[in-house]
Amino acid sequence: MQLNFAATSQIGSGLAGSGALVVGVGEGGAMTQSAARADKASGGALSRAMGQGRFTGKSGTTLEILAPAGLTWSRVVLAGLGAAADFTAGRVEQLAATVTGKLLDSGERTATLQIEPPGGATAIRGARLAAHLAFGARLASYRFDSYRRKSAQEHKPSLEKVTVATGDRVAAERAWQPLKAVADGVFLARDLVNEPPNVLSPTEFARRAKALSRHGLKVEVLDEAAMKKLGMNALLGVGQGSARESHVVVLQWNGAKSGAKAKGRAPVALVGKGVCFDSGGLSLKTGAGMMGMKGDMGGAAAVTGTMLALAARKARVNAVGVIGLVENMPGSNAQRPDDVVESMSGQTIEVLNTDAEGRLVLADVLWYTQTRFAPRCVIDLATLTGSIMASLGREYAGLFANDETLAARLIAAGEEAGEPVWRFPMGAGYDKLIKSKIADMKNIGGPLAGAIVAAQFLKRFIADDTVWAHLDIAGVAWQDSDSRPLTPGWATGWGIRVLNRLIAAHYEK
Ligand code: BES
Ligand code: MN
Ligand code: ZN
Repeated sequence: MQLNFAATSQIGSGLAGSGALVVGVGEGGAMTQSAARADKASGGALSRAMGQGRFTGKSGTTLEILAPAGLTWSRVVLAGLGAAADFTAGRVEQLAATVTGKLLDSGERTATLQIEPPGGATAIRGARLAAHLAFGARLASYRFDSYRRKSAQEHKPSLEKVTVATGDRVAAERAWQPLKAVADGVFLARDLVNEPPNVLSPTEFARRAKALSRHGLKVEVLDEAAMKKLGMNALLGVGQGSARESHVVVLQWNGAKSGAKAKGRAPVALVGKGVCFDSGGLSLKTGAGMMGMKGDMGGAAAVTGTMLALAARKARVNAVGVIGLVENMPGSNAQRPDDVVESMSGQTIEVLNTDAEGRLVLADVLWYTQTRFAPRCVIDLATLTGSIMASLGREYAGLFANDETLAARLIAAGEEAGEPVWRFPMGAGYDKLIKSKIADMKNIGGPLAGAIVAAQFLKRFIADDTVWAHLDIAGVAWQDSDSRPLTPGWATGWGIRVLNRLIAAHYEK
């Protein structure tokens, strides 16, 4: 789907144009200027339609009027703007996504969004408003259709072009560029998570990451020999049952100004769990439990997508993304429950459940990241536990942190970006639960507090002076229903928006 901006004057008074025209209506049915003009030109068709239905301009609601007499548009969509006080970037994105989702398969080929803010003081207007409308429309237009053959034509969206009307086209284009970069990162992450696991092996993931070097990222791919040399036995143990090779991929973006102080030069490190398929290993999952486990690389996808977004918008930050790519399979060479592995950190781990594999992968990747880069902070993302879904469902990601400032920043960035996170406690009481009878720790606790125990495990691989946060994204990396306008389809691409927001707000000074 194509997106562009046009000066409001070119579109005229909203009377002459083709395709769908989208105009805003504030709370209580207060028409914006464009809505009022279209209403007048149609001899009051819009107000009559409003009078007959339940549409009152509430945020998130729409009303469609087909083929209104007196207008050249094939339909007019009234979009509820809600109250001025709540008219935020997030609401604007939701609005554009809702409308785009409705029109995508409607038969319409073009849509024009001519949205003015509701009356009263609003947090967003002008060029930013136009850019965020475009962002919402773009995120809603995502499809993963690469494996449809027979019905490709039926599934093809009809909507080919969305035009956002704005007073200042040049300013809108400028405001859109960084958001476009973020959308590109989200789409990449969604593609990676949606891709079936026969196609997206660790090696194929690494190849796709490597291809990002054309955006100015420095990308290295470690093979098993290199990882063995480094002592990454915890990670390698997870992958050893698979016929496919494991990899660690390092993506670097060095965008900080050359004059930056030492603190600004140390990179922000993003670490991702990349289990390309999680069968559970010898602690095999059930058939139903295995479904969707192609998405167990959602953390790695979020890191990769964020690195692309940073590069594409030329962020003034040094950042490094490190992802551990493995496939967790049973087989004659698979890791056994009861095995003991020595991690890169030197700490030994008794592997009592091969399905608690993500923490084994992260143990080595986290250690490698800290020793090699001495990062300013480390944020890891992982579809780590079913337990976090029991607690938070699909609304929030779980946040664990050893630093109050980073935790507060992530909570705020998540709220603002529409990817909220909820902080969980940590502490010695939980740490006790991973005491092993024969090694430094075991990889599972008891039946309680599974997500916290997993975080405690990771913390054992975080140096005392490392500022660290862990995001358990098992509940938010994908979804079963298609009901959220900004995240259509299965994979959500969760994480790029919150991480980008965090970095833009605090690490690009
Ligand atoms: N990848 C899973 C966690 C998961 C489950 C993500 C469902 C998304 C949906 C992880 O590797 C896992 O299997 N965790 C186990 C840990 C347990 C064995 C301690 C779990 O949560 O059941
Ligand atoms: Mn598992
Ligand atoms: Zn897993």
